[in-house]
Amino acid sequence: MAPIKRIGVLNGGGDAPGLNAVIRSVVKTANHAGIECLGLEDSFDGLLEFGRSRVLTSVDVRGIMRLGGTILGTVNSGNPFDETIQTSDGPRKYSERCVEMFHRMEIDALVVIGGDGTLGIAHQFYQLGIPLVGVPKTIDNDLPGTTNCFGFDSAVAFATEAIDRLHTTAEAHRRIIVVEVMGRYAGWIALYAGVAGGADAILIPEVPFDLYAVREGLRQREALGAHFSIVVVAEGAFPAGGKLALLEEANSGHVERLGGMGAKVAEALGKLTGKETRSVVLGHLQRGGAPTSFDRILATRFGGMAVDLIRKGDFGTMVAFAPPEIVARRLEDVVGKTRTVPPDFDLVLAAKSLGITFGD
Ligand code: F6P
Repeated sequence: MAPIKRIGVLNGGGDAPGLNAVIRSVVKTANHAGIECLGLEDSFDGLLEFGRSRVLTSVDVRGIMRLGGTILGTVNSGNPFDETIQTSDGPRKYSERCVEMFHRMEIDALVVIGGDGTLGIAHQFYQLGIPLVGVPKTIDNDLPGTTNCFGFDSAVAFATEAIDRLHTTAEAHRRIIVVEVMGRYAGWIALYAGVAGGADAILIPEVPFDLYAVREGLRQREALGAHFSIVVVAEGAFPAGGKLALLEEANSGHVERLGGMGAKVAEALGKLTGKETRSVVLGHLQRGGAPTSFDRILATRFGGMAVDLIRKGDFGTMVAFAPPEIVARRLEDVVGKTRTVPPDFDLVLAAKSLGITFGD
């Protein structure tokens, strides 16, 4: 294998706390090994033309580990394999242009940081002959092959603090407060933040819920003298078929229009219990801000391992956390799959033993 002289790093999809920490680690590790690092801006768009990338040195990435967002910018829409772009030579397939420019920019390999969508695209580029290594990023934590994606821990920490704060006001007003958290296909954030924050009900996409069962859980709590409740709802949670007409509209299959389930659950629970309810959507607050120390460490280890894999020529892989190790997985074993919460996961069972209802 020819020695690696220059690598490109890009991120795609929604941002997640820890992105800058990965970029910093990639750049510093590469520079330490005498490899130049090119930061590609706005996901794969950075490969479309000269001028949308910049050489990053260890000095350039100094101080960015604690910053949210990404110094490279990101794009959360489109697929290079579906798009055509206009060039001075006429219309070109976006993906073909990326491959051509990858070679013209004299990049030897790529580090692609992303969730399922971005890593799926990366896998297609790998099949076209682009040497690359993936790094798993999503606050939803739903990528297979790794117990943690960086960003998840930070999102959980934020959501837990929010639930703590909502507890005091819910208790003061004797209300039910419904908190909607992110989690499109998987309820990891809802589960972890719900348990850590001492929620009374946790509704996740993996367990279609029945609001009568939720009401029963809250009633039992009320019978023990608690006159307020916190209900955590993952944005992708949905009611068990046809049990509550009130929620059917929200369950009509428009996955791209997620959000709003918390408000619907709050409205329906208000009617069912006769209690005053409020709902709060944490939304993108969960993605912003500084990464936790856990995510900084994970991101740093991921970035370092990604460069090591490139130096070994172990392409078509994704770095992964298999505690306590950082390991490599084959991209083809990971992409196109979702790691959801198993209904018999020990934390689900423990939560139920604590009296938390999942509405099942
Ligand atoms: O990263 C995944 C995610 O956090 C989902 O939970 C959410 O549905 C989505 O991003 C929202 O992304 P955006 O608003 O950036 O399109």
